[in-house]
Amino acid sequence: MPPPFSQTEFIHLVRSLASLDSGGAPVAVLAIPIRDFEVSHAARFLTQEEQDRAARFMFAADRRRFVAAMACLRSILSVACDTAPAMAPLKRTDLGKPYLPDSAFQFNVSHAGDVVLIGLAHAVAIGVDLEPRSAETRVTGLARAILSATELRRLSNSPDAPSSLSLLRTWTRKEAVSKAIGLGLSLPFPSFDIIESGSTLMVEAHQSALRQNPWTCCDLDLGPSYIGAVATAAPVPHRMTAFVDWRHIIGLAGALRKPTKP
Ligand SMILES: CC(C)(COP(=O)(O)OP(=O)(O)OC[C@H]1O[C@@H](n2cnc3c(N)ncnc32)[C@H](O)[C@@H]1OP(=O)(O)O)[C@@H](O)C(=O)NCCC(=O)NCCS
Repeated sequence: MPPPFSQTEFIHLVRSLASLDSGGAPVAVLAIPIRDFEVSHAARFLTQEEQDRAARFMFAADRRRFVAAMACLRSILSVACDTAPAMAPLKRTDLGKPYLPDSAFQFNVSHAGDVVLIGLAHAVAIGVDLEPRSAETRVTGLARAILSATELRRLSNSPDAPSSLSLLRTWTRKEAVSKAIGLGLSLPFPSFDIIESGSTLMVEAHQSALRQNPWTCCDLDLGPSYIGAVATAAPVPHRMTAFVDWRHIIGLAGALRKPTKP
């Protein structure tokens, strides 16, 4: 897969998202295929605690997704913090959302099937969600658990029942919003509406946690096998989505640490 940008361009993007005076840096979403990711090569990117967590996964596929996501995220953070990946001061909130303390650099991760999705932003909370199309069967019949009363009412005026694809799409939008806020699945999805307004999807909230910001989200074009969405705490002027090889991402730390001439 040809990289959509050179390492130098990517390092520049990450540094501008992390800098305090980032003027108009875009929200960037990286879709990283990991079918051939080599877990054994990635241990040095993770902290001991993360390696211990990786070892506890019962299924190899879950371990690969976790290790690939952490190795890619920590490689990006190593650029933002100018340190080795395992040394980046990554913390988690009580509900599990990873963040960098005292930094304008905002990010969020989702992983499913053979893909890791990483959203990057400057100074606005961001959430991403990714689901395989095969998850359509899991949401069939779950309209009441996903849609708000307003969204259900709108549907009852329509002759068609919601397709499982449209329910899955709404699920990814709402999960991206709940992850941007940091509440995850503890935010009831029927407590807010997603309103289509031109190409932007606005969030209309019935809950105070959501009312503090003008949350917006947008669908991601991830090919025929995946559905995904990104949400931010403000309308963003410019979004970019790119498929990137995992080697390109974990090579970033090495690119930074090339020996300099004495
Ligand atoms: C976040 C959550 C929605 C993830 O759901 P999912 O569809 O299984 O997973 P995704 O692949 O989309 O996202 C997982 C990633 O989201 C991030 N994440 C975890 N908790 C998060 C939160 N509260 N908000 C935003 N992002 C979160 C992490 O990077 C996580 O990856 P990792 O754990 O492998 O490092 C779900 O775990 C959740 O609701 N958690 C928070 C609330 C909760 O009840 N937590 C219980 C533990 S205290």
